[in-house]
Amino acid sequence: MFVSENLGVNEKGHLTVGGIDTVELAAQYGTPLYVMDEQMVRKNLRRFHESMQKYYNGRGYVHYASKAFCCKEICRIVASEGDGLDAVSIGELYTAVSADFPMEKVGFHGNNKTDEELRYALENGVGHIIVDNLPELRRLEALAEKMGKTPHIMFRIKPGIDAHTHKAVLTGQIDSKFGFALETGEAFEAVKEAVACKFVKLVGLHCHIGSQIFDIDPFEAAAGVMLDFIAKIKNELGYEVKGLNLGGGFGIKYLNEHDPAPFEEYLRRVSAVVEKKCAELGIAQPEMYIEPGRSIAAPAGITLYTVGARKEIPGIRTYISVDGGMPDNPRYILYQSEYEAVVANKAGEERTEKVTIAGKCCESGDLIGENMPLQHADSGDILAVLATGAYNYSMSSNYNRIPKPAVVFINNGESRVAVKRETPEDIIRNDV
Ligand code: LLP
Repeated sequence: MFVSENLGVNEKGHLTVGGIDTVELAAQYGTPLYVMDEQMVRKNLRRFHESMQKYYNGRGYVHYASKAFCCKEICRIVASEGDGLDAVSIGELYTAVSADFPMEKVGFHGNNKTDEELRYALENGVGHIIVDNLPELRRLEALAEKMGKTPHIMFRIKPGIDAHTHKAVLTGQIDSKFGFALETGEAFEAVKEAVACKFVKLVGLHCHIGSQIFDIDPFEAAAGVMLDFIAKIKNELGYEVKGLNLGGGFGIKYLNEHDPAPFEEYLRRVSAVVEKKCAELGIAQPEMYIEPGRSIAAPAGITLYTVGARKEIPGIRTYISVDGGMPDNPRYILYQSEYEAVVANKAGEERTEKVTIAGKCCESGDLIGENMPLQHADSGDILAVLATGAYNYSMSSNYNRIPKPAVVFINNGESRVAVKRETPEDIIRNDV
């Protein structure tokens, strides 16, 4: 009925998440409110790591891409599932450290890491650093020498895969700020330099071909290209690259008409390609890493708002204004992303209208969506926007000095605050 499988309607006609009445959650914690379903996060993680066990003989690792949704609580959940983390800034690393995350299971990303970040990663024993460019490699080597460390690194490679076409097209993706290009020979030259380093140790290659991808073909193509490169390194340099990190990007259902491939199917097909290709190339099967972010967090989250003004502009549109907007969900203004919305206290009713849901910022583009099918919404109703668990809280801002909503986790019929609601005092905390 709804885009995420953990949503339903109770006897009061209210939307439920993980069996809990969302109208009651709104009353208890206030709005706007991010709600995350712990069981759903766990289930999504398990879908990936169990498929890895099944199809890749357990020689694969799931690193949750924490940029999708990061706070201490989700780090604890990921750790308790035995999975790793992809972190991309000192803030994400610090969150993981603060949550006692096993840092040897963390991969540290970024196309322009600062010295402070690299130092922090080394001090805290990050499992591997995904190096993006030569200046970074050189800075890291110097830092490692100074600190007496021998960091394991992977190289971020641009495999030249166009993830947005139906059939993977092997064209120039050189125009990207991330990683080393294969086509120009840049990646091979960099590998030569890394292999000669005294302190850093090249243990893997990494690629990430995009996000919200529904099709498996481009992932298979990327795996193939990366394995060809691993074989070239072995044949020409006599160096064995042991790890292959294929990044994240698995699409999810935001609308009922979306039809992403099941995660299990992704791992089945990609594992088959890796096994076949390694046999053909005469190379050992690498340890495989994947970095799902959205597919873990997005379906587990919803956002609750209180409806304020309703404005009907005859012949034009109806605006439903809510007490949040682009500060808690910037994805419409940035990407015109579509969401399913429900009036939580009328969830059992038909959606009879098509409305524009607007936020409260002084900005016309501050919308949650346009042309959204919805039950008749009035002032005081609770509005739920679905599948907002990824890239909503993590991309939220304080635009207009609006305090950020709280994050509540639900689990087995109970709820708890994982991130407190910001207050106006938080807004001026760093002002002098
Ligand atoms: N690994 C790397 C190196 C990445 O850059 C990303 C996402 C991921 C993994 C996780 O990808 P996922 O499984 O979540 O698709 N803000 C955008 C999405 C940006 C994704 C950036 N990188 C959005 O709201 O759609």
